[in-house]
Amino acid sequence: MKYFQKISVTLLILASSGLMSINAADGIEVSHLGVNNTLVHITGDGRYLLLPVEEGVEDAKVDILLDGKPETSIYVRLARNKVDYFVPFDLSRYKDAEVLLNVVTAQGRSSVREAKDDACWKTICLSDTFDTSNTEKYRPAFHHTPLYGWMNDPNGMFYKDGVWHLYYQYNPYGSKWQNMTWAHSTSTDLVNWQHQPIAIEPNGLGSVFSGSSVIDKNNTAGFGKDEIVALYTSAGINQMQSLAHSSDGGMTFEIYPGNPIITLESEARDPNMFWNEETKEWNLLLAHALDHEILIFSSPDLKNWTLQSAFGKGLGAQEGVWECPDMFELPVNGTGEKKWVLLCNLNPGGIFGGSATQYFVGDFDGKSFKVDTPADGVVPTKWMDFGKDHYATVSWSDAPDDRRVVLGWMSNWQYAAEIPTKQFRSANTLPRDISLFRGDDGEYYISTIPSPEVELLRGKKVTAIKSKSIGTKPLVQALPTANDGICEINLTVTARNAPVRITLSNAKGEHSDMVFNPVDNTVTFDRTASGITDFSQDFSSVVSAPTFRKSATQSLRIFVDRSSIEIFDDEGNFVMTNLVFPTVPYSLISLAAENGKASLKSMDIYSLNPAQNN
Ligand code: FRU
Repeated sequence: MKYFQKISVTLLILASSGLMSINAADGIEVSHLGVNNTLVHITGDGRYLLLPVEEGVEDAKVDILLDGKPETSIYVRLARNKVDYFVPFDLSRYKDAEVLLNVVTAQGRSSVREAKDDACWKTICLSDTFDTSNTEKYRPAFHHTPLYGWMNDPNGMFYKDGVWHLYYQYNPYGSKWQNMTWAHSTSTDLVNWQHQPIAIEPNGLGSVFSGSSVIDKNNTAGFGKDEIVALYTSAGINQMQSLAHSSDGGMTFEIYPGNPIITLESEARDPNMFWNEETKEWNLLLAHALDHEILIFSSPDLKNWTLQSAFGKGLGAQEGVWECPDMFELPVNGTGEKKWVLLCNLNPGGIFGGSATQYFVGDFDGKSFKVDTPADGVVPTKWMDFGKDHYATVSWSDAPDDRRVVLGWMSNWQYAAEIPTKQFRSANTLPRDISLFRGDDGEYYISTIPSPEVELLRGKKVTAIKSKSIGTKPLVQALPTANDGICEINLTVTARNAPVRITLSNAKGEHSDMVFNPVDNTVTFDRTASGITDFSQDFSSVVSAPTFRKSATQSLRIFVDRSSIEIFDDEGNFVMTNLVFPTVPYSLISLAAENGKASLKSMDIYSLNPAQNN
């Protein structure tokens, strides 16, 4: 950094005249200009400026100037009373430039205090390192999670040359939603993730909201063969759609100078596109958020899009906003048939309150989507996951072997910003492979299984039980203890005209309960006594999934991470994703039959190994 000699002299004069105060960490000069305005001059060297954050206060607006010119603006909850954690602002890209931060703290502060009294100025500092080692007890051991900062929707996923690319909505400057960028992770096996540099940052059109990417195999856009083309929503005062492209396989993106490529007068976001082999054109879905419909476009070149139709008015769940659509063809299990499926995330208005993913099954001709409509004319509302914590689910483009692999954000907007973690917030679900099955009612439903790669996590089989009867007195079995008890439980129970309760519990008396009810063909999940629940009135809940079959026997695959439980029906008929925050790990599993008559056909429990790079 160049030394700000002239300014420093001015500051000294002002300070000695009592107009302002200077308190400096090494290489930083902080000068307070008024009740809510502070200038921060970077005069020393250091890769990062470490910004002290207090989660409970409002954002300060930080304008960053390089050599006197505006570079970017970020919003940070700069600490007022106490420092909860630090976030790094990377200065390495500004080498040899003069860096000045113009900080405006929220107006409301002026009534009670002045910015100069704020705690952040005592601890703001330069550093060559930022410690991302994470010791938080609720940090997932085998779910994709950012090293620090806030994450929501998965974005722009594509598979190329053996690598699964995952981008995601990310705030690098705090563990609550703000400063949306596309962060990036890669994996060769869908379970071990490598954190990559941020891929797309906000620019003059606004922050970078959700979107998708494709491989332009035929160079339709003219950027080059196999260019990665991403579309995302630029969110400023309005929402518009922007294009970025990458010639290095998705590591770095160039922003298209012709942006925005789609503008509308009303709120529309989260462009999701795919190559349509039938029509030899691109299709794009856009969530017309407040109008509760999905706009369908087509294009020959990824740049010029023609609106073809709108789908969804009056259909399915209609509350809240419609967001993050996706569409693809899926095979129907056990038949040669294929059907189109349109995913539509909505918030609030989900099946159990807040966020959830609904879907429609039908046909698509490249221009409009026609939903299958039963004889009574009422299109049923279908849900992709029967838990509280599954949202913004979209799929990878170009997954190998004709697979359709999806990933959801494992949280709920009702309380996502309040969950009891600090350095990071949110994880993604396990990756899932989907197809369709036909229910007894003749309807098509999504079948969901954990992606086969998830088995790579398996450690020792610690329990193998065959044929035991279950009475009213619980059958109790210890859970593995390594790595805070993370495990996979595969079990099959046969009930006799009454519910069977499966409980995970710890020494503190906290428990999560699953109940298989063969009478009404449901599986419920109750987390009301699961551990910490009081951070939001919406968290404590009992959710329920239909089993989609009339059977006294039910097989479940249950994945227990440090702060989540995913329950898959063994055949894929339903899945339930729920966060839980036990104060100590669950150490026992117990099974009991309400009428004293059930049997455990089998139960295999595997300890799981933590994923790498988590
Ligand atoms: C869904 C969503 C999207 C939007 C993004 C912003 O969770 O609201 O519609 O693009 O989050 O982060």
